[in-house]
Amino acid sequence: MEFYQLLEKIVQTNEAHARWLNTLSFMENAGARKISACEHPFKVDLIQLKHAAEEHRHAYYLKKQIGKISPELCKNYRKEELLAPVATRQYLHALDIKACRYLQQVFSLTKEELKYAAYLFVTYAIEVRADELYPVYQEILTKTSSKIMVKSIILEEEGHLEEMISQLNEFSDDWQIHAEEILSIEKELHEQWIKAIAEEISQVRYA
Ligand SMILES: [Fe+2]
Ligand SMILES: [Fe+2]
Repeated sequence: MEFYQLLEKIVQTNEAHARWLNTLSFMENAGARKISACEHPFKVDLIQLKHAAEEHRHAYYLKKQIGKISPELCKNYRKEELLAPVATRQYLHALDIKACRYLQQVFSLTKEELKYAAYLFVTYAIEVRADELYPVYQEILTKTSSKIMVKSIILEEEGHLEEMISQLNEFSDDWQIHAEEILSIEKELHEQWIKAIAEEISQVRYA
């Protein structure tokens, strides 16, 4: 099932839609925590602080949107409140591990440097994905006259991608070659994630 058709199906039922929002919220929160975890103890700058703050806001904002569907749904990030919880958790975790393995091979880095490089490349890949995912989601929300809106997230994600590119330019002259590798790792994991969600949606009957 294509991503577009899958999302169209998800937004049709309140339960699945709430879980989708909660799953995105979970991912944003995990991303925010990852960014904060990658901070150097004292060399962290404005851009990195802004980025962590905005990803935290996205997690909060998406969680709040669930209230427009029903205030009773998806209060936490328990597995029964997420779509494809195993694949969802796996996505970020596996991306991080595989990216670190690759970066360590091509650049010889200290522990602290590897943390920063992982922040740059992993976040870059996630921003590329976010710039693709949220506009598709918003298109479906607009088309179905939904009360839910993700336009403010789209704007900030576009800013993030530009910021990541400028930070990557400072990090390395040939960052693009390596970014391509990380993007292909991400693409495979993203496909697995979507496949897991599609399977769940086709199996479970949402009321
Ligand atoms: Fe975000
Ligand atoms: Fe972002």
